[in-house]
This record gives sequence, C-alpha cells and structure tokens, in this order.
Amino acid sequence: MNADDMKREAARAALDYIGDGGIIGVGTGSTVNHFIDLLAEVKHKIDGTVSSSEASTERLKAHGIEVMDLNSVAGLEVYIDGADESNRQLHLIKGGGGALTREKIIAGASKKFVCIADESKLVDVMGEFPLPVEVIPMARSYIARELVKLGGRPVWRDGFVTDNGNCILDVHDLKIMEPVKLETQLNALAGVVTVGIFGHRPADVLLLGSPNGVRVVNP
Ligand code: A5P
Repeated sequence: MNADDMKREAARAALDYIGDGGIIGVGTGSTVNHFIDLLAEVKHKIDGTVSSSEASTERLKAHGIEVMDLNSVAGLEVYIDGADESNRQLHLIKGGGGALTREKIIAGASKKFVCIADESKLVDVMGEFPLPVEVIPMARSYIARELVKLGGRPVWRDGFVTDNGNCILDVHDLKIMEPVKLETQLNALAGVVTVGIFGHRPADVLLLGSPNGVRVVNP
C-alpha cells in the first residue's frame, strides 16, 4: 500500500463523520481530493458544502456537489481536511497547498474538525515540514526578517499567489516545541494574514491511513 492508498483509506473513513444531512466543510489537498471523489457517491446524504479553495470548489462542482458561501450558513457540524504534519495533541501544520487562511476560517466555524492523512504526517515535534505563513505582499520582506530573528529560514514561494491575493513564506529550520505560543507570536506581526499552525484550533480527531488500516488518533 503506497501513501496515496493510505490517504484514500483515511478519506473513506471520514465518510463515517458526515452524518445524515447538514453542510460539510471541505479542505484542500490530495487527501481531500480522495474525500471529494468518495463524497460524490453519497452526495444525496448532505445538504451542501463550504469549500476552502478554488481548487476544491471546482472539484466539488464537477461532481455536482453544491458549494455554499460560509456567510450564508449558520455554522458547520464537521470539517474534513488534510495536514502537512500533526503532533500527538493534534496541533497541525497546514498550508502546503497554500489554502491555509480559508482552511483556518472553516475549521474555526466547524463544531468538529476531522483530519485525514497518511501515517507519515504524524510526528513528535512539528517543523520538519516548512511552516507556511501567508503575508500581505508589501510586508513580505519585513516579515521574513522577523522570522529570521525567531530562528527560522523563510523562503518566499515565488510566483505563488493565494486565493486571497497574498504571498506565502515557507519557514524552514523550526522546531515547534510550543505550537500555540508560536502561533500567537506570529499572528501578532502586522502583515501576517495567517500562520499555518493550527494550535488554537487543533483537529478533534485524526484518521491516519496505514498499511494495517486506518488508525483513529484522539488528542
Ligand atoms: C492545503 O493548503 C494544505 O493545508 C493541505 O491540507 C495539506 O497540505 C495536506 O495536503 P495533502 O493532503 O496533499 O498531503
């Protein structure tokens, strides 16, 4: 079983969390793409979705699944999304696909956040995966200098523009021992739109695809 098979099995396990009826929050990435394809087979069970990216919206619509504006719904029961890394408390690094801001908004608006991933994503200490930080374009160099002061090595994701018209700095060489504290610290920098640490709003459950089946990890 390769990583993609494990992602698909984690995505399949997430179908057990969508309940009957209601509006589902849908994340972004290759694991979520499997979820969207599987959701298409049971789309009659749900009332619609709220999507975290243009890419996911396009895929949902191609399957005939309704995509709604978050402002038009009262709240979401469940949000299904992947992650680049998770620690054992289910704090996450997200944003490898650049959709971190909308992902964080939807995670915040959802009662339950179900994270789906292959087993390689579970780590003891986050930071091996470069931490994505979405910044307002005029603040890019300033924020990069601040990130260097904190011990990071920011690399501009050159040529990439987020769905919100901003840029991404991928911060290498961090060992994130205190995710919630670092998230707060980076959020306080003027010009930072969103930090890819999901510490204040971690996942509620992690479904981890492995060669032996899907492991359910609770914080
Ligand atoms: C998108 O911006 C990310 O947060 C994704 O959720 C994350 O990169 C996981 O992606 P994969 O499912 O492709 O590994």
